[in-house]
Amino acid sequence: MQVLVTGARGQVGFELLRRAPAGFVVTGMGSSELDITNEEQIREAVARIRPQLIINAAAYTAVDKAESEPERAYAINRDGVAHLAKAANEAGIPLLHISTDYVFAGDADVPYRENDATGPTGIYGASKLAGEQALVDLCAQHLILRTSWVFGVHGNNFVKTMLRLGRERSELGVVADQRGCPTSAASIAGALWRVAAKIRDEGTAAWGIYHFSGAPACTWHEFAMEIFQQAHALGMIERQPLVNAIATRDYPTPAKRPAWSVMSSQKLQQTFSIAASDWHHDLLDVLQELNGPADKVTPEQ
Ligand SMILES: NC(=O)c1ccc[n+]([C@@H]2O[C@H](COP(=O)([O-])OP(=O)(O)OC[C@H]3O[C@@H](n4cnc5c(N)ncnc54)[C@H](OP(=O)(O)O)[C@@H]3O)[C@@H](O)[C@H]2O)c1
Repeated sequence: MQVLVTGARGQVGFELLRRAPAGFVVTGMGSSELDITNEEQIREAVARIRPQLIINAAAYTAVDKAESEPERAYAINRDGVAHLAKAANEAGIPLLHISTDYVFAGDADVPYRENDATGPTGIYGASKLAGEQALVDLCAQHLILRTSWVFGVHGNNFVKTMLRLGRERSELGVVADQRGCPTSAASIAGALWRVAAKIRDEGTAAWGIYHFSGAPACTWHEFAMEIFQQAHALGMIERQPLVNAIATRDYPTPAKRPAWSVMSSQKLQQTFSIAASDWHHDLLDVLQELNGPADKVTPEQ
């Protein structure tokens, strides 16, 4: 099956490319090869590659910066997705897309289900929600995987930031009143490939919105503590820094973060037999790879 992956140089795009199972012929395109805000470029790519499936891993992901450049965020996260959706629909092929927990307001206290009311609190979440809506409206065969707190070996993420701070400082403060689910980019890629395999084997799938995130839920503070514990055990940091639990109000950011980002992955489990991934194990895999031979590791960008 011919698959076009957009945003191929991002955290998830990178894992999609290197984890493609046998039987898929994958063309991965980064932003310099295929800019999803350019409708003509998308048409040309689809006409040339003739994919039987598109997976969109491209997005504007700078949550805070989005507050000061909303046009760019919407151009990529809403209009770019709309262009891809139109092209996929015209070609009669499915489009798998990734969205975010930030489409929710974050004021719940039970895991979010797919049908729960959305209510983004910032531009990034609002632009991603607009992208979801464009995809639903414009492409019949669509699957949206909402995920959260993504980390991996490639690109920038919380794990790499903590590793850097852990080497630089003996003490730091990490927010302890936001609860969510760390999710490895590798597990997201794995889930998407399993959905893709079902589409390839059965010609269709139960289209719609699904949640997929790591388990169990934790706070950023708990996540940081686990990162330092594992990194120390692997000899990646000399000592574990003191991690003070701080409140969101003590760490002001341009974009408001949801206090509750926990999503239920039950629907995906029931429909596709894809279970939430244990982020403790996934974190160990990432740290071990980052700790491995230098020539195998992608440097922090
Ligand atoms: N990171 C998270 O914590 C998180 C949480 C929830 C959901 N998600 C979602 O998960 C998906 C993957 O995120 P990620 O963490 O892999 O993000 P990422 O590492 O920031 O990768 C996004 C990629 O999109 C590319 N891109 C940006 N503008 C583009 C354009 N106009 N045309 C084509 N490509 C473009 C970027 O390329 P350049 O760098 O060259 O611009 C980048 O390689 C996104 O849909 C994101 O919204 C992420």
